[in-house]
Amino acid sequence: MQQRQIQFNYQLFQNIQELNEADALLLQSARNNTNLAYAPYSRFQVSAAALLSNGEIVFGTNQENASYPVSICAERSLLASAATLFPQAYVVSMAVTYQSLQYNSNQPISPCGMCRQAITEHQKRYGHNMRLILSGQTGDIYVIEDAAALLPLAFTSTKI
Ligand code: THU
Repeated sequence: MQQRQIQFNYQLFQNIQELNEADALLLQSARNNTNLAYAPYSRFQVSAAALLSNGEIVFGTNQENASYPVSICAERSLLASAATLFPQAYVVSMAVTYQSLQYNSNQPISPCGMCRQAITEHQKRYGHNMRLILSGQTGDIYVIEDAAALLPLAFTSTKI
């Protein structure tokens, strides 16, 4: 028997001014877009903005449905848009944030399990790491250089 360990590293920034210019722009765009979410059921509006490898910036927000499981998260709506609009490009960095009437938006959001699975497949499909910039409207910001690290021992197809 062997004991094994998977290590996970991320960076903590205390405010948007500490980020590099490209990351700050992406996070600010995501923060500005929370009102594009359609979240009448949870009232938790999530917004994502991504820089693609071709220089384009794409957006995503959560889009809910009266049949709750039909809803899609901001991260996966972004990945679907990116892959449809610019199929040759991959996501270099994705900023994610949220706004809510019920909760203070002062701590980082973290992608749900389903989104981690989708992000992992995007990385594998394009063969590049995706950076994540996770935050609320204010407060700490986490930067994760390898988003797939959020889903250790992920299920993947051997075909891609
Ligand atoms: N949601 C996202 O869009 N992204 C996340 O990372 C976490 C959760 C959405 C799903 C649902 O519409 C609402 O936030 C509340 O869970």
